[in-house]
Amino acid sequence: MAVIELRGIKKSYGKRKKKLEVLHGIDVHVEKGEIFGLLGKNGAGKTTLIKVMAGLLIPDSAKGKVVGYDVIKESEKIRASVSLVAPTADIGVDPVLTVKQNLLFWATVYGIPPKNAGDVVAEVMEALDLAKFKDAWAMEISAGTRQRLAIARALLVKHDLVFLDEPTVKLDMEAAKMIRNFIVDLRNKYGITFFMTTHLIEEAEEICDRVMIMDNGTTRALGTIEELRRAFKEDEEIDITGKFNALILGKLREIWKVNAVHLDGEIQLRFYVENVESQLPKIIEMVKKHGEIINIKIKRLTLNDIFEKVIQ
Ligand SMILES: Nc1ncnc2c1ncn2[C@@H]1O[C@H](COP(=O)(O)OP(=O)(O)OP(=O)(O)O)[C@@H](O)[C@H]1O
Ligand SMILES: [Mg+2]
Repeated sequence: MAVIELRGIKKSYGKRKKKLEVLHGIDVHVEKGEIFGLLGKNGAGKTTLIKVMAGLLIPDSAKGKVVGYDVIKESEKIRASVSLVAPTADIGVDPVLTVKQNLLFWATVYGIPPKNAGDVVAEVMEALDLAKFKDAWAMEISAGTRQRLAIARALLVKHDLVFLDEPTVKLDMEAAKMIRNFIVDLRNKYGITFFMTTHLIEEAEEICDRVMIMDNGTTRALGTIEELRRAFKEDEEIDITGKFNALILGKLREIWKVNAVHLDGEIQLRFYVENVESQLPKIIEMVKKHGEIINIKIKRLTLNDIFEKVIQ
């Protein structure tokens, strides 16, 4: 079941001469229970796209639905049915209420019945390691803890779709890991769909089922990490170091794309191949005929490599 099914999203800011076109006709399709990652440089249009999908901005044009509601005609219903954590989400935190009071306040605003509010608040505080700060004023806690509080607030209500715009910004490695674990747990436990942006590409590689790389308001790549790897696989590298005779390079170059570096009596051969699995045995067999292999290293494409290739 599609939770987001949108085609041709266009959005610009300003008018006439000052008009800035930010989204140039983006399609988005996200299935229920997916953790979907949106990547792109500063200014690519990620936040704008999230605001359109969360019903906060009306696009210039677009067709389709978010959680079953029309993206243009029913944006208010969308807004009421999804959660959003913005990079500045902690602005909504009241500095002179304690962490627990902030969450209880928002539980009331979100219409959680008072008899359940205590349990719901305790659950998110536990999951985000906020329980130890429960009686601290929000102005006393660190920026990273406040960001966790903002995420906790947005996740008090278990909406089917949650937008997270840079959820781990300001967080140290350990806290960021905790947030990622929480996202995956909520998806597994409640089937919640997450649409997130991040500048930490390894983060997307770790938890996102699919990613979309955006540049200048257009989609440049879309798929699972494996699909993207396959699409860019001509860049996978195999390094073989060893002692080889001088003829080896000419022979290998009849078949493969190879470079060689001479290191103290050894040669490092770097092969650029489309399919490591199928080529490696053939390469090893051929190389062995011309000398002795000391070391083999395979460099698989990371999402970071793909990102750099896509966004040049
Ligand atoms: N309210 C606005 N009015 C005018 N221009 C805007 C507005 N919001 C964003 N922009 C412009 O739209 C473009 C896309 O901005 P957006 O915030 O969507 O990018 P982003 O991909 O989220 O970037 P970042 O990684 O920095 O968060 C930028 O050029 C930005 O200056
Ligand atoms: Mg942004």
